[in-house]
Amino acid sequence: MIKNGLIGVLALGALLLSAPSFAAGTDHAKMEPANNVLSNVRSLQRGVGHFVNYCMGCHSAKYVRYNRLADDLQLSEQQVTDNLMFVGEKLLDTMDIAMDPLDAGRWFGQVPPDLSLIARAKGTDYVFNYLKGFYLDPSRRNGTDNLFLPGASMPHVLWELQGLQEPVYEAIIDADGNVHKFMVGFEQVTEGLLSPEEYDQFVRDLANFLEYISEPVKLERQRLGIRVMLFLLVFFLFSYLLKQEYWKDIK
Ligand code: HEC
Repeated sequence: MIKNGLIGVLALGALLLSAPSFAAGTDHAKMEPANNVLSNVRSLQRGVGHFVNYCMGCHSAKYVRYNRLADDLQLSEQQVTDNLMFVGEKLLDTMDIAMDPLDAGRWFGQVPPDLSLIARAKGTDYVFNYLKGFYLDPSRRNGTDNLFLPGASMPHVLWELQGLQEPVYEAIIDADGNVHKFMVGFEQVTEGLLSPEEYDQFVRDLANFLEYISEPVKLERQRLGIRVMLFLLVFFLFSYLLKQEYWKDIK
């Protein structure tokens, strides 16, 4: 009885452990880690530049204020005004855009979401992979699809930098003779202005910036967390010594 129970528990455990690999089996899009470093201010500075130049045509980041960016990214107010603002915004403004959501919906089929919180909602790795995952698909209205967001209505806005890639499929024939096509990777069909490594760094900086804006106090919070832990440790030491002192005559 006990033995059967044990086997049951083990089987259940094995099933639970293997569950993620089932999921991975049906979802062929394997994500690479973004390997971004949030404390790398140079990367964040490059990231905000890319964001303003390549993304803000369609996406806002309406929870981010320019003056906060200046502080956190160690940029002077002049640098922010000269390099990140083009249409007369003020330093206290948020990173809003002028596009009317109704127009955007008509043009793209979907309204481009505000990206302030996207890295928290979907993960930094996701953003990194999404920006690398556009591939040619003539059946789509904008000529491309995305491996990580099938049916994406966002055009491949970085195609000049990355170049264009085509999917490579592998066919597997099952026992009933049905053919299943799996996408196994990409093949570069036109060169981009950047090498693959440079493009990776480009989108890593962007993903890093999007992670930063999704929680601007993250580094501060972690630093504070360590200080609080250290304080508690020292405090514990003193309270322990005090306790020893109080109880020493009673024992
Ligand atoms: C020409 C307009 C346009 C530009 C420029 C643009 N996007 Fe988008 N983006 C869209 C649209 C439209 C969607 C909605 C896609 C959908 O849900 O099908 C989107 C969605 C997204 C998403 C969310 C994907 C998801 O899983 O929901 C991310 C992240 C994103 N864009 C990042 C970027 C970044 C980073 C840039 C700059 C390099 C950028 N976009 C530039 C139109 C644009």
